[in-house]
Amino acid sequence: MKSFKQFQQFKIEQIETALDRLLPKNTIEPTKLHQAMRYSTLNGGKRIRAMLVYACGQLLDLPQKTLDSIACSIELIHAYSLIHDDLPAMDDDDLRRGQASCHKAYDEATAILAGDALLTLAFQVLAEADCTAEQRINWIQLISHASGSRGMVGGQAIDLANEGKAVSIADIENMHLHKTGALICSCITLVASLKHQRQDKPYQQLKHYAECIGLAFQVQDDILDETSSTEVLGKTQGKDKHAEKSTYPALLGLKNSKQFAQDLYEDAIDSLSSFDQQADYLREIALFTVSRNS
Ligand code: IPE
Ligand code: IPE
Ligand code: MG
Ligand code: MG
Ligand code: MG
Repeated sequence: MKSFKQFQQFKIEQIETALDRLLPKNTIEPTKLHQAMRYSTLNGGKRIRAMLVYACGQLLDLPQKTLDSIACSIELIHAYSLIHDDLPAMDDDDLRRGQASCHKAYDEATAILAGDALLTLAFQVLAEADCTAEQRINWIQLISHASGSRGMVGGQAIDLANEGKAVSIADIENMHLHKTGALICSCITLVASLKHQRQDKPYQQLKHYAECIGLAFQVQDDILDETSSTEVLGKTQGKDKHAEKSTYPALLGLKNSKQFAQDLYEDAIDSLSSFDQQADYLREIALFTVSRNS
């Protein structure tokens, strides 16, 4: 087995190549829209969602081509969510992945449309994937739930509604599970659904792992907004406080938030206890989720 670093590098190349192939070329009309889609998708990013797909695929021994379709679909939805998250009507952020946000590099209308088109392309990728019709329907059901009003988009609505409000820990947890946890969880459930039924023990264990790191990922994002720098993050540091966002550090303080992330990490690792070393990349991703600095 390759080291996690090697795996990560190898898989970043794999996802970048697959996304590059899928996205319409810059020269195809309407060129500005296609340029904006490529600009916001092929601009770095940690690719943790793709890593989860490939690491789970490695554990369950699934074909790379199928994994590429899932990884691309989820990274496209993620890229769309970031474009819309940065819009003036939402977080109003000028910087993303170390460069101008989509609406700054282009314009607001183009940013909205690029997001719309990326979301649509994500479903096209799944519909055209190399697998059975039944598997495709299953994926589309899982991903639409994870990204819609009862998943990511719902979480984003809660996030905006919570600005400037005093909310409970349960409210923040609910918001984070929706806005970030749901899509991260789908990286695992789409892959696991190729091998297991939803009631199977391995499926449940993997899903629980994904729920833990999905929540931990957003807790760490909140922590880094306070403790990191704009340069390292590639997005404006300190925005949450400025916008009076409901975050874990705002409610619990930094120390308790870090402890909570650590507890979630341990819970995630525990839920992998019945898997052998083939699950080591998933273990490494869990560690990365809570120890990353960007
Ligand atoms: C940022 O996600 C938005 C959240 C859901 C916290 P990432 O931190 O995964 O962003 P990229 O893809 O690495 O830029
Ligand atoms: C965004 O959360 C979650 C999404 C669904 C995009 P944030 O608003 O905290 O993400 P950043 O910090 O701008 O990346
Ligand atoms: Mg936001
Ligand atoms: Mg934001
Ligand atoms: Mg944030």
